[in-house]
Amino acid sequence: MAKKSILITGGAGFIGSHVVKLFVNKYPDYKIVNLDKLTYAGNLENLKDIENAPNYEFVKGDIVDDPFIFELFKRYQFEGVIHLAAESHVDRSIANPNEFIKTNIVGTVNLLNAARNIWKDNIEGKLFYHISTDEVYGSLGDEGLFVEETSYDPRSPYSASKASSDHLVRAYNHTFKLPVVITNCSNNYGANQFPEKLIPLAINNIKNKKSIPIYGKGENVRDWLFVDDHANAIDLVFHKGNIGETYNIGGNNEWQNIQLIHSLCAIMDKKLGREEGESAQLITFVKDRAGHDLRYAIDSSKIQNELGWKPSLQFEEGLEKTVDWYLGNSVWLDNILSGDYENYYDEQYHKR
Ligand code: NAD
Ligand code: DAU
Repeated sequence: MAKKSILITGGAGFIGSHVVKLFVNKYPDYKIVNLDKLTYAGNLENLKDIENAPNYEFVKGDIVDDPFIFELFKRYQFEGVIHLAAESHVDRSIANPNEFIKTNIVGTVNLLNAARNIWKDNIEGKLFYHISTDEVYGSLGDEGLFVEETSYDPRSPYSASKASSDHLVRAYNHTFKLPVVITNCSNNYGANQFPEKLIPLAINNIKNKKSIPIYGKGENVRDWLFVDDHANAIDLVFHKGNIGETYNIGGNNEWQNIQLIHSLCAIMDKKLGREEGESAQLITFVKDRAGHDLRYAIDSSKIQNELGWKPSLQFEEGLEKTVDWYLGNSVWLDNILSGDYENYYDEQYHKR
């Protein structure tokens, strides 16, 4: 049977692993190649369910390695690219911006060049889909939402590197007519998220009765989306999105960090059979993140109206599912918590 060859980059990471699993299971006629460098954030355990599927192949490699990327495109003749590989954690970008510049900017350009070269004689049916973030739009005050036309105003090395990659993707569309689409999504949560990020970090600390570090006063607001809802949006945009367009994706689900952590503590008190209010005693306010963006919130009416996408889960239900997953996968968590992560944690939190 004819197969469509699709490259997914960063497929061993948090969101990428959900996208790879969705595509491998839903599209048996596609050949899915997952390219991942397996940095600290990449974990093949996330893909155990599908690792032997006949339509799936894993390739270990670095998107910064230009000749390697070129050869990969020649070998597989990809017809579609879904580009998720990135350095993704804001705090790490503050501590050490350079990796973010290499992977997020240079790596993206390498993929764009390879796609342009391999598709130059036949552009029909090809698509370069770049996965981006709402952080490129900067920070909101108490009112308003990010729309697709909001001017870019990135304020951390992470968001500046993602903004730069978005600009390059649009430039390749405009200048070289490369068929591209971009989505900018809000904060994801769910299974497989590396425990450096707020929700899994808090779940792990509550479980182990360790303090929960809240930056500043905990008043910063994020718009949370369950990761499977993001994966479904990516599926929809890959198949139905209009070339050259940008779609914002968000949960319409804003929470101050401190409110979110109180909800999480209440869920975990119940799950762990603790007294009501016990876990909340672990909340500890620590020095704020440098340049901490106050509020992100997405207007996702374009993808809802034009492509018919909408988030499926209420936050309470999604949080419960997430807590259940982490409590049920302690081996996954323990494997990550040793070694490098301990060093990162000490460096990040004990100097605060
Ligand atoms: P993640 O950090 O969990 O995973 C990133 C993956 O990319 C890892 O598997 C890692 O090994 C791989 N990778 C890193 N550098 C690489 C390189 N040089 N070559 C090849 N592979 C490399 O990230 P995530 O949270 O799953 O985010 C995925 C994408 O979605 C990113 O582009 C991010 O900017 C974007 N995004 C994330 C969120 C979120 O809330 N997590 C929200 C919106 C957009
Ligand atoms: O908005 C989309 C972005 O969401 C993605 O592009 C990023 O890849 C992803 O990491 C995420 O960025 P945030 O910085 O919003 O996520 P993080 O989980 O790091 O932090 C969420 C909020 O919680 C933020 O206001 C900072 C705060 N925080 C975070 C940590 C790790 C704390 O208060 N304490 C912490 O220990």
